[in-house]
Amino acid sequence: MNYERPGIRRMEGYTFGEQPAQTQVIKLNTNENPYPATAAVASVLSALKVEDLRRYPQPYANGFRDVAAQFHGVGRDNIMATNGGDELLRLAITTFVDAGQILGMAEPSYSLYPVLAAVQGCKVARIPLKDDWSLPQDFAARLNAEGAKLAFVVNPHAPSGKIMPVAQLRQLAAEFKGVLVIDEAYADFVDSELAYNAVPLIHEFDNVMLLRTLSKGYSLAGLRFAYAIAPASLLEPMLYKTRDSYNTDFLSQQLAQAAIESSDQAASSWALVRSERVRLTQVLGELGFAVVPSQSNFVLASVPAQTTAADNDQLALSLYRQLKDDGILVRYFDQARLRDKLRITVGTEAQNNRLLDCLAQYLQTQKR
Ligand SMILES: Cc1ncc(COP(=O)(O)O)c(C=O)c1O
Repeated sequence: MNYERPGIRRMEGYTFGEQPAQTQVIKLNTNENPYPATAAVASVLSALKVEDLRRYPQPYANGFRDVAAQFHGVGRDNIMATNGGDELLRLAITTFVDAGQILGMAEPSYSLYPVLAAVQGCKVARIPLKDDWSLPQDFAARLNAEGAKLAFVVNPHAPSGKIMPVAQLRQLAAEFKGVLVIDEAYADFVDSELAYNAVPLIHEFDNVMLLRTLSKGYSLAGLRFAYAIAPASLLEPMLYKTRDSYNTDFLSQQLAQAAIESSDQAASSWALVRSERVRLTQVLGELGFAVVPSQSNFVLASVPAQTTAADNDQLALSLYRQLKDDGILVRYFDQARLRDKLRITVGTEAQNNRLLDCLAQYLQTQKR
């Protein structure tokens, strides 16, 4: 007997990047921060006691919300804490899109979006990105024509790392008739000179929600902690109706609070990632890869051009496999527009050197 709902039976689950048990592997496949979390987080962690866990946590993570609100210059009502960004994505769909209704997204983007849509039983309007990974001019018009209730836009974009200016997001928010979730999972890594800040949009529009996570910028992917920044009216149904009763636990609330309070320290890891990103982009270019200029903690690299498109795809897959055999994991997506590419997380200088040496060596051997 199969007891699953028919829609669940038909759907495929999310494909994770590999999470190997061995620690010697150079892990450049799931966009984790290669540097440790801040000293403040480590010190709160070591002071935690088992007695702290006897009681339920603060249901709304209010301590964290106050710290995050101060950090972003908004009110507590504009912040909601979640068990990772993935929970926020799921809550947004559950709250704003009924089964059978439409969720909009650009294609390609984070491959979890359609999985969450399938769980909810809603349909997905996939709007292809332009060749340069930017949104088509008529993105909002097409979403409106489809009747999309909610749209996910990831900025900086994943998997390309391309950034969209706030002015364009503003125009999108004004034109789109549904809820616009701007997934800023990688926003901490944007060059400071760009002064990227989409937070003011939550005061200008009642349909804009930003997603921030501690997984990448704060080196806490294992913690599972993220938050929304949005108008109070958008957060209320999620906070008071659709959320799990205690969706974030006591330990994560304390550590997440310490992380945001010590963001100045975390920022030093962002600076290191940015400078390694520049170097990785340049050296990959010298090896013949075409790399999209990235504002994230990963780069998307097309393999050096071969005779045919099929040869390019073959080479990308073979490089991915050779790296894996040598203990270096990068991400390969068996997906339209991505089969001739590797998505490589920016690692430490030593990790990046190892990756670049291996790639140079494989490409040399291939030429012979
Ligand atoms: C684009 C994007 N959004 C959201 C997330 C969610 O991150 P987390 O659930 O770790 O907060 C990820 C994680 O890889 C991501 O790549």
